[in-house]
Amino acid sequence: MLTNKKITLYVSGSIAVYKSLSLLRLLIKKGNQVTVVMTKAATEFVTPLTFMTLSKQTVYTDEFKVESASDVNHIKIADETDLAIVAPATADLIAKMANGIADDIASSALLATTAPIYVVPTMNTHMLENPATKRNIRTLREDGIQLMDSATGFLAEGYEGKGRMPEPVDIVSWLEVMELSVTKQLQGKKIIVTAGGTKERIDPVRYLSNDSSGKMGYAIARVAQRAGAEVILMTGKTSLSRPTGMKIIDIESAAELFNAVKDAFTDADGLIMAAAVADFRPLTTAKQKIKKNDDNDLMNISLTKNPDIVAEIGKIKRSNQFVVGFAAETNDLLENATKKMLKKHLDLIVANDVANINIGFNSDDNQVTFIFKNGQQIQTPIESKLAIATELINVIGEQII
Ligand code: C5P
Repeated sequence: MLTNKKITLYVSGSIAVYKSLSLLRLLIKKGNQVTVVMTKAATEFVTPLTFMTLSKQTVYTDEFKVESASDVNHIKIADETDLAIVAPATADLIAKMANGIADDIASSALLATTAPIYVVPTMNTHMLENPATKRNIRTLREDGIQLMDSATGFLAEGYEGKGRMPEPVDIVSWLEVMELSVTKQLQGKKIIVTAGGTKERIDPVRYLSNDSSGKMGYAIARVAQRAGAEVILMTGKTSLSRPTGMKIIDIESAAELFNAVKDAFTDADGLIMAAAVADFRPLTTAKQKIKKNDDNDLMNISLTKNPDIVAEIGKIKRSNQFVVGFAAETNDLLENATKKMLKKHLDLIVANDVANINIGFNSDDNQVTFIFKNGQQIQTPIESKLAIATELINVIGEQII
């Protein structure tokens, strides 16, 4: 869990330094104590005073500005670190880390750090693609250091490219997933995760949909990836950041989702169906925007049933494939969920009480009961969707695969 930790945030010299201020705030908001170490170049972009004011801690910029006679700065910083994050990490600092160079406070403290180190490479595309940088990044990976993918987009140089520092919220989400205690139980497995709600078109500008935020499905996709799986995320439109390093298929309607799932399932090991699929769709979709009829206050739309995707997949799944469904219920939760699990031939159903407004759709927290084919039930506490996703992936790894 990314809370109650002593985090050291290393900031090196890049125009992206301003983003580290938000990152610092987010890490503090999560209940961590954050110490900032800046390279000399970083202090040219933002002053240490700004970081000091936000962190309420000494900001280290100089190895030789010793606070007390008994402390050696870089060792003190390293020893007091539960987690180190280097963001932005310039080509220069990455090169030093990869080669064991310790010639300033940041590189020296990083070399002395035994806690997990996370690095967010941030630089110009050509610098990132330079064989020297690529080699250094590979070395860091081999040394057990975790690196986040740089973002692609508009660079300070005025053109598009890879190398941007990802948004601070995305860095925090990544750290949260990396800090989870998932063993690599899904290594070599191909897992489809569906997320978000479907949209069923009435006409070119109107549709039927639901309140699903996609948060549960996205959390599952990230944790499954962390557990070593090759993940295919099929998603309706959401406002969430897109996870990196996995195949993402955007879908709109239940019919599109059904086709995508059917195609991918043939050589997949499992399906986790967290999407909120509309049960019905308009019988016809008007080609033009439907006009208001001034003579009639009533408007009827005929609906027809959508395929039950998870049930159809449940029918065709082989014995070495698994299917997990969700049941959002407002009453008789366990009884209704169990019936659904049996009817849809699922290996596991995640039962969710949506009558409770503190959990479920759109909220960050949830509480669910896992119901297995053999009748076994496990209820989770009320906890974050990420924690629930972790428990789900752990039970899939331990009891289903
Ligand atoms: O029957 P109910 O909609 O409550 O079942 C929920 C489960 O079935 C979820 O896993 C959901 O993704 C899946 N589902 C589906 N196709 C539908 C409706 C629901 O796969 N048309």
